[in-house]
Amino acid sequence: MSTTNPPPPPPKLKTRILNIPPSSPLGSWSSPNSLQTWTLPPTPLIPPSLTLAATALTTSTASSFSTPVAFPTETVYGLGADATSSTAVKGIYTAKGRPSDNPLIVHVSDLSMLNTLSTIPEIYHELISKFWPGPLTILLPVPTSGQLLAPEVTAGLTTFGARMPDSPLARALIQLVGKPLAAPSANASTRPSPTKAVHVLEDLEGKIELILDGGDCESGVESTVVDGLCNPPVVLRPGGVGIEEIRQVKGWEGVVKGYKDRSEVGEGHKPRAPGMKYKHYSPRARVVLFEGHKPVNVGKELEGGGQKKVGVIRTGEWEGLVGETEGRIESEEGGFAVRQGSLRDEEGKELATVLDVDLGRDVKGVAHGLFAALRELDRLGADIIFVEGVSDGDDIAAAVMNRLRKAASEIRP
Ligand code: TXA
Ligand code: MG
Repeated sequence: MSTTNPPPPPPKLKTRILNIPPSSPLGSWSSPNSLQTWTLPPTPLIPPSLTLAATALTTSTASSFSTPVAFPTETVYGLGADATSSTAVKGIYTAKGRPSDNPLIVHVSDLSMLNTLSTIPEIYHELISKFWPGPLTILLPVPTSGQLLAPEVTAGLTTFGARMPDSPLARALIQLVGKPLAAPSANASTRPSPTKAVHVLEDLEGKIELILDGGDCESGVESTVVDGLCNPPVVLRPGGVGIEEIRQVKGWEGVVKGYKDRSEVGEGHKPRAPGMKYKHYSPRARVVLFEGHKPVNVGKELEGGGQKKVGVIRTGEWEGLVGETEGRIESEEGGFAVRQGSLRDEEGKELATVLDVDLGRDVKGVAHGLFAALRELDRLGADIIFVEGVSDGDDIAAAVMNRLRKAASEIRP
């Protein structure tokens, strides 16, 4: 009887982080508001690492083995490949381990590039002039003539997501490649999105060759995804642009939420296990989300659980479990510190080690540090992470809670 051998595993690649000099004019998080045509800086001002990344994205499409390139955007790091090449786009799914039925966002440097793919329906005109370049993804009909998208980008749907990132580095990279870049967040599937180059390395080392390092992402949560092709228009994923801002735009007054927020997830008094098609945004540690703004007795929560290291992420009302002076600072990077201390019972017996993170009360700061905090607590070996939720607003708070509800194994009222 003949047996077929399984295909050989892809070769392990050497992954390099390419730095962009902090002095580079491309190194900020916002780009001039030139929507129609984005002009590259003069060649001497383009960092060699950017040129190298662009060359890799251009040439990889010609070979049968193609690896995508990770690059920064103002939201999170993306994993990019030429959106018009099937070989290149397949490389993204392979590197991330992403299910092939989850479509990718197409990133353009300017409207001239988007116009090679699609004419933009009227409903989006004002939205684009207000929020692009920026953290907003719009759904457009898949092109059937002119420049075509690789079918893998859209996972068989009749629409595709388009976004013009604000990061000048991202726009310059796309412009240098001269093609729209399909790019999901550059995490391994199921993990929290990367907001630093080292997060990409943690997840994709050996699977991709190049990571362009532009520093810590500004916003920290992904773009808002909207569908204006249906009536009423829908926000499919809350993100960097708040639904309250979208509602101000002509034609979008009646926009509805196409995702589950607290009102739909339910406000009952019973703990809930969120149902989801895919595990998402999850650290290795078990995440328990508290939505109720009530103080939590961590010692009681741990009773009988056997956890040795407990992460606590605070966003407002919760008291620190580790005093400002008592706790050893375990790491301090990217806007928050992790303090380590001991949780003791009344007799002074140690119940667990606590890793305490305060992300502050400003919801923008919480968004900025959230994924980095989940990853950092993982790195420090937390077995379980208790997270204090924020109030579900119609601003970036909606994005924070949406990601936390998906990351959580358990949600407490
Ligand atoms: O900020 C962002 O959006 C980042 C950066 C890298 O640009 N990208 C990102 O991509 O978050 P990703 O693949 O992690 O998330 C894309 C989301 C997914 O939820 C996907 O299902 C949805 O957009 N999406 C993409 N195309 C779609 C389509 N045609 N219809 C409905 N949903 C779509
Ligand atoms: Mg993602």
